[in-house]
Amino acid sequence: MTKSNVKPATSKLGVMVVGCGAVSTTFMTGVLMARKGLAKPVGAMTQYDKIRVGKGDDKKYLSYGEIVPLTDLNDIVFGTWDVYPANAFEAAVNADVLKAKDILPVQDELEKIVPMTACFDKDFAARLDGTHVKDCKTRWEMVEALRNDIKEFKAINNCERIVMLWAASTEVYVPINMAVHDTLEHLEAAMKANDTKNIAPSMCYAYAALAEGAPFIMGAPNTTVDIPAMWEMAEKTQMPICGKDFKTGQTLVKSGFAPIIGTRCLGLNGWFSTNILGNRDGLVLDEPANFRTKEVSKLSTLESILMAEKQPDLYTDYYHKVRINYYPPRNDEKEAWDNIDIFGWMGYPMQIKINFLCRDSILAAPVCLDLVLLSDLAARAGKVGTQRFLSFFLKSPMHDYTKGEVPVNHLYQQYTILKNAIREMGGYEADEELD
Ligand SMILES: NC(=O)c1ccc[n+]([C@@H]2O[C@H](COP(=O)([O-])OP(=O)(O)OC[C@H]3O[C@@H](n4cnc5c(N)ncnc54)[C@H](O)[C@@H]3O)[C@@H](O)[C@H]2O)c1
Repeated sequence: MTKSNVKPATSKLGVMVVGCGAVSTTFMTGVLMARKGLAKPVGAMTQYDKIRVGKGDDKKYLSYGEIVPLTDLNDIVFGTWDVYPANAFEAAVNADVLKAKDILPVQDELEKIVPMTACFDKDFAARLDGTHVKDCKTRWEMVEALRNDIKEFKAINNCERIVMLWAASTEVYVPINMAVHDTLEHLEAAMKANDTKNIAPSMCYAYAALAEGAPFIMGAPNTTVDIPAMWEMAEKTQMPICGKDFKTGQTLVKSGFAPIIGTRCLGLNGWFSTNILGNRDGLVLDEPANFRTKEVSKLSTLESILMAEKQPDLYTDYYHKVRINYYPPRNDEKEAWDNIDIFGWMGYPMQIKINFLCRDSILAAPVCLDLVLLSDLAARAGKVGTQRFLSFFLKSPMHDYTKGEVPVNHLYQQYTILKNAIREMGGYEADEELD
């Protein structure tokens, strides 16, 4: 710790979550319960993982907080926006992810987390009809209103720093339009001209966060931070951003399982992934335009792990399909099936089936915590722009195109990048040694 040159995590960290739905309330409730000692933050790397530092006789295994200064859970203050007015307690009850016994002990604290009115446009999420929405005439007015919200929240809650996390619904797919999204100047002009086609509400949240000196994390597959204008904004404001879309269920399995096939030089004919899910996220994703955003994000995983350019005999033209179907009886308890058609010696075919009966928000909550704490750490370490070390947590890892970097989807390579970033921020040497 003494060698770390990261600014200390003093005072309060405001965690401003866009969307007060299943993921957000499961995240918030878990943090509040954990700090009372009533629940364990299982799955959070920042709370459990230990990294080796040093080599040979000097080696030791330390938790992240022993290597770098991380914000203590007790220093987190939550804020939120939603298109529905329900407070975090009511929203947690509605989401029906957690049992009453896991919510009631923090009911008072959750009730105080009351959503601010949202910046929303129904054209971006047709299945939502909430009216707890700001009355803004232009996208630029949305930015200004959100900046005011952040300033007020920071002052009222005495926060030294803010991190903004998008855990709101997936918006319709916004293709990158280089006439608008290429530079900050063009992006700002489009916001002022109220170009509602090319400027998603999420872009207003991201812009406002960065403008207020807060790292921004995109937990959905929206293309919000995929655009050069937003990289320029991160550079200008000296703030970190990262990839997008929490890597939780099926894609986590995929990015961990595909390396088995690739490492043993087995061939792939096809990978069919399907899911049933019945929460509000599932409802929004039932809309083809919203699913398209998710599909693009989910498909990228395999293509960068099993690559035809590297192994034409093994990975040319395999069929990769991802489906999500809305099925209300399952609510948040998503079921995912993967059928993998592989081939081996002399081309003989084989099949692998994976059936993951997961809980969507239970998997996403620790990822929220890690992304928030590590983005805050990155900001205090003076890291600017896209943070590759956060790829481990994201379905669509991002990379700095301007430096010719490529996204890394391979879970174990991502883990190495994560560990090395923590080591380096802690003043230790980055290395690739086997642990
Ligand atoms: N749970 C997972 O494993 C997982 C994994 C990857 C990504 N995600 C993404 O996380 C997001 C949240 O998932 P969830 O299950 O909590 O969904 P949810 O529907 O329960 O909650 C989303 C909330 O966002 C609100 N919202 C929508 N647009 C908004 C806006 N413009 N401003 C403020 N609030 C807005 C909705 O009203 C809703 O309450 C989704 O985009 C989902 O795709 C979830």
